[in-house]
Amino acid sequence: MNLLLLSKEKLDLAKAEAEALLGKVKVEDNILFTANEDLNLMKRLAFANKVCRLLFVTDKKNLEKDLQKFDWNSIYKKSFCLRIEGELLKNEAQLAGFVWKKLKNPKVDLEKPGTRIEIIAGKKIYCCLLLHESKKDYLLRKTHLRPMPHPTSLHPKLAKALVNLSGAVKGEVVDPFCGSGGILMETGLMGLKAVGYDIDKIMLKMADKNLSYYKVKGYKLIKGDGTKIPKADYVVTDLPYGRSSKISEKIETLYSKFLKNLKKALRNKAVVVFPDNVNYRKLVKGAGLKIEKEFNYYIHKSLTKKITVLR
Ligand SMILES: C[S@@+](CC[C@H](N)C(=O)[O-])C[C@H]1O[C@@H](n2cnc3c(N)ncnc32)[C@H](O)[C@@H]1O
Repeated sequence: MNLLLLSKEKLDLAKAEAEALLGKVKVEDNILFTANEDLNLMKRLAFANKVCRLLFVTDKKNLEKDLQKFDWNSIYKKSFCLRIEGELLKNEAQLAGFVWKKLKNPKVDLEKPGTRIEIIAGKKIYCCLLLHESKKDYLLRKTHLRPMPHPTSLHPKLAKALVNLSGAVKGEVVDPFCGSGGILMETGLMGLKAVGYDIDKIMLKMADKNLSYYKVKGYKLIKGDGTKIPKADYVVTDLPYGRSSKISEKIETLYSKFLKNLKKALRNKAVVVFPDNVNYRKLVKGAGLKIEKEFNYYIHKSLTKKITVLR
């Protein structure tokens, strides 16, 4: 059994993102349990801060006894460090003492331990081995740090979560309204094939500069109408929301055309972000698609976005 520690700001999205990639999960506050063993998939999750292997479950009363009982030599590599997540009466050094006494050649390394033990206090106490900790390298791709920044580009953490929500583990992810390439960047860096369309060639030039700057491989950028894309394995997109001078028609008409074509083009799932001032449910239904999941995402006072997972 593996245990993921989720960041707390968007737990509904965090759970759905994990479920889309890992299958059935169980969540207790910000602790997620999964039987899935695919570490590469778990590392992809935008909202998972830590990925751990569950060693044993205990409670406050039995913690010390169980720490003394566990065979720490079986997971120990060269050195160790013990960290506590959550509230416990004992501190890290006290608990590490129990581990130390059980090891044949104990060595503590707080910086780069061979073995990192995580004691996670939730409803119960979960004693774990840390497999991966997110370095949050998506922060290096925030729009103001890109060679071609753009104000409408999504936060890269959200863009990453959207790609994961589609459930794509291989194949092509298409963004029919790719703008400066925020979603495509996250797609490509996860090892998926990124394909972007935009009506505006200046936006495509910006996307190209951004994608090559972050060394995304094998991406394809096409000048074209996002409402007319051909067959696609997965579609992930943040729809234009009507403030651009490039959009001549009514925004609902554009969305409707896009969704009707999506119904024919989509092989698997689509993740589509709408502004919340349109009746997106009616438009989705009218196109013959189904909303599998939906989430609110607050951007600022006058803009909340609706994230939808469509089939
Ligand atoms: C909200 S932005 C996308 C932002 C993008 N997700 C990013 O992270 O940079 C919407 C984009 O849709 C493009 N667009 C508008 N109408 C279009 C159409 N019919 N076909 C393709 N692109 C279109 C605009 O040029 C704009 O770049």
